[in-house]
Amino acid sequence: MTEAAIIDGKAIAANLRAKIGREVEALKSSSGFVPGLAVVLVGEDPASRVYVRNKGRATAESGMNGEEIRMPASASQEQVLARVLTLNGDDAIDGILVQLPLPDQIDSAAVLDAIDPLKDVDGFHIENVGRLSTGLDALVPCTPLGCVMMLKHRLGDLSGLDAVIAGRSNIVGKPMAQLLLAEHCTVTVAHSRTRDLPAVCRRADILIAAVGRPEMVLGDWIKPGATVIDVGINRIERDGKTRLVGDVAFAEALSVAGAITPVPGGVGPMTIACLLHNTVTAACRRRGVDRPVVD
Ligand SMILES: NC(=O)c1ccc[n+]([C@@H]2O[C@H](COP(=O)([O-])OP(=O)(O)OC[C@H]3O[C@@H](n4cnc5c(N)ncnc54)[C@H](OP(=O)(O)O)[C@@H]3O)[C@@H](O)[C@H]2O)c1
Repeated sequence: MTEAAIIDGKAIAANLRAKIGREVEALKSSSGFVPGLAVVLVGEDPASRVYVRNKGRATAESGMNGEEIRMPASASQEQVLARVLTLNGDDAIDGILVQLPLPDQIDSAAVLDAIDPLKDVDGFHIENVGRLSTGLDALVPCTPLGCVMMLKHRLGDLSGLDAVIAGRSNIVGKPMAQLLLAEHCTVTVAHSRTRDLPAVCRRADILIAAVGRPEMVLGDWIKPGATVIDVGINRIERDGKTRLVGDVAFAEALSVAGAITPVPGGVGPMTIACLLHNTVTAACRRRGVDRPVVD
C-alpha cells in the first residue's frame, strides 16, 4: 500500500500570499490604493494574541496596510461596537476582523452583525452567510475557503464527489458545506448526533474533519484513496511534551488515504492566506475596481 500524499498547506499558502503581494503591487500602481485590514483584539487570550500577531505579520508581508486595535478585557459592548462603526466609516480600511472569542459581557453576534458586510473579511455577517448559501458573490469564511482551495489544488474538478464534513459549526462545517455544494459535490454534514459516524465517513471521497476532538477520526473510518482535510487544532500532552494534533489519527490515516493535510502545516497557513485574499476581494469590490490579473 502506498502512503498518502501530503497536501502541503504551508507551500500552497506561501504561493497564494506571494500572488496576493503581486495583486497589492498592481492595485497600488494601477488604481492608486493599498488595501487596509483592521484586526480588533479584545482582552488578553493567549491563543488570540498569537493569531492576531500572525495575521498582522502576514498583512505587512503582503504589502497591505494593517491596523491592530487592542481593547481591554473589560471593554463594554458599546465600546467595541463604537470601534467597529468607526472602522466601517474609515475609507482606508477595506477589511475588519474581530478576533473571537470575545469576553463574556459582549454579544459576539451583535458585534459581527455591526461590521459593514462589504468589509466583513471573516465572512461571518448574516448577509454574507445568506449570500453564500444562495449562490451570490460573498465574502467567505477563511478556513473553509482555504480547504476548498487545497482540494482543488489536489483534485482539480470536485464535481460529483461524495464529501462528508464532520462538524457543523458556523465557522467551519456549514460554510464548508455551501462551498462544496457550489463545487457540485454531494455533501453530507455529520455532527455529534450522527448515527454510526465511522460508516458515514467511510463513504467519503473527500473527508473534512472539523470536530475539535484530538485524533478522533481513525484509519478505518477512511475510504481507501480518499482525500482528507484535517481542520482540527488540538493541544495535547504526550510523552511529557505539549503537541499540536488534528482531529484525524494522522499516522493511521497515512496508510489508507490518498492524500491528507498535516497538522500543523495544513489548514492553518491557508486560513491566514485566505484572510489576505478576502481583503483584496473586499477592497476591489468596495472600490469598484477589477481584481488585478497577475501570474
Ligand atoms: N486551522 C484553522 O485555521 C482552524 C480554524 C477554525 C477552527 N479550527 C479547529 O477546527 C476544529 C473545529 O472547530 P469549530 O470552531 O468548527 O468547532 P465547534 O464550534 O466546537 O464545532 C464542533 C463540531 O463538531 C461536532 N462534534 C463534536 N464532537 C463530535 C463527535 N464526537 N462526533 C461527531 N461530531 C462531533 C459538533 O457537533 P454538534 O453541533 O452536534 O455539537 C460541532 O458541530 C477545532 O479543533 C478548531 O480548533 C481550525
